[in-house]
Amino acid sequence: MPEAIYQFPEGFLWGTATAAHQVEGHNTNNNWSAWEVEPGRIINGDKAGLACDWWNGRWEVDLQNAARDGQNAHRFSVEWSRVMPAPDRWDESALDQYRTMLKGMRRLGLTPVVTLHHFTDPLWIYEMGGWENEQTPIYFKKFVRKVVTAFKDEVKLWVTLNEPNGLVVNSYISGGFPPGKKDFKAAFRALKNLVRGHAAAYHAIHEIQPDAMASYALYYRGFFPKSNWSPLDALATRSLMGNVNEVFSNAIKDGQVKFALFKDFVREAVGSQDYVAIQYYSSDLVSFTPFNPGELFTRRRSPPGAEVSETGFIANVPDGMTQALKWARQFRKPIYITENGVDDSKDTLRPSYIAQHLHKVWQAANFNYQMKGYFHWSQVDNFEWERGWSQRFGLWGLNTQTQQRTRRRSADLYAAICKENGISLEAVRQFAPEVFEILFPS
Ligand code: BGC
Repeated sequence: MPEAIYQFPEGFLWGTATAAHQVEGHNTNNNWSAWEVEPGRIINGDKAGLACDWWNGRWEVDLQNAARDGQNAHRFSVEWSRVMPAPDRWDESALDQYRTMLKGMRRLGLTPVVTLHHFTDPLWIYEMGGWENEQTPIYFKKFVRKVVTAFKDEVKLWVTLNEPNGLVVNSYISGGFPPGKKDFKAAFRALKNLVRGHAAAYHAIHEIQPDAMASYALYYRGFFPKSNWSPLDALATRSLMGNVNEVFSNAIKDGQVKFALFKDFVREAVGSQDYVAIQYYSSDLVSFTPFNPGELFTRRRSPPGAEVSETGFIANVPDGMTQALKWARQFRKPIYITENGVDDSKDTLRPSYIAQHLHKVWQAANFNYQMKGYFHWSQVDNFEWERGWSQRFGLWGLNTQTQQRTRRRSADLYAAICKENGISLEAVRQFAPEVFEILFPS
């Protein structure tokens, strides 16, 4: 028996999350494969390339490690362009490959959570305008029907879209994702079609599999006003909450799609959510500025004192996890953390980041929030989109030349947590001593 432990609810899902393009390798028929060969798009000119070589079978290596380390679930995505290489063609062999992986997960004792869209579109969808085109949700629904029909006996938990709110901003406002636009009107068109696509997928899933659990995965950014007594900072914070965190969830609540100055209504989206999937990484302190209209008159910076990851991408702000969960609770549905993690090749920050964030998840569970699972991003280093291979999010490191995996200290910590279904004093003392006094004050 451990001396002291923050115990999680029975049946809690412990896993890691991955996405097709980031781990499979040899994805050559989607918008990202086209984007990666355009000069200047990806840091250092990196490409996903062979990635973690999952498509050749190395998924088994990583998921065996995951299972051995006490994980009981895994979230991954099915690549649309593999299953539907052309508008009028299915590739059954791709479905067979995913079936093999699903059976493998079951064998390893990992409950699968399947994402149906994780940032990538087939090239033929990209060429017809991607999510700006009203036909895209219709094609997406076809794809979803095919996948759910194929795997309804293997999978119960579905994620329709990964971070549609983040996707819209990255693709149409900041321009780091394809098609690299900076255009609010295009962003709104895409947002509306993503809402339609999600709703269509949600209803299709339930038609085929009435007892399925389906939702989209929300990118949640923590926002705190820089000054607690400035009404303008409060307004700026509220505006970011609305335009970043709530832009998609509002549409699911009442069908209202609103972004910047645009508005519309999608009736079929109302209530299309069986659980809440939160992806929380970091938070900002927000202040008002008249000089930054492109960012809705806000300025953001990392909260002072928060440790920042090696590429400056993520500030360690565990209170943001609490903010996210409080926000998620309003829906009165089961809550999963479907992503949380930090870029940290040397693994100096990750152990404390994991311990502190999970401590907040534990607190929520003990305030009777319906906390059902946690998926760390990620099992092994993988291709980080426009940041290429410059960021390392894995519990295990990856040498892309040799495909060799190297275990990090965080893997030991996370294994202890998964195996004990809790954060024990011993595990923190041994693997995250930096935060021992915070979690277990003497
Ligand atoms: C995305 C992942 C990504 C992670 C870290 C999330 O927003 O869903 O695909 O790898 O952030 O960058």
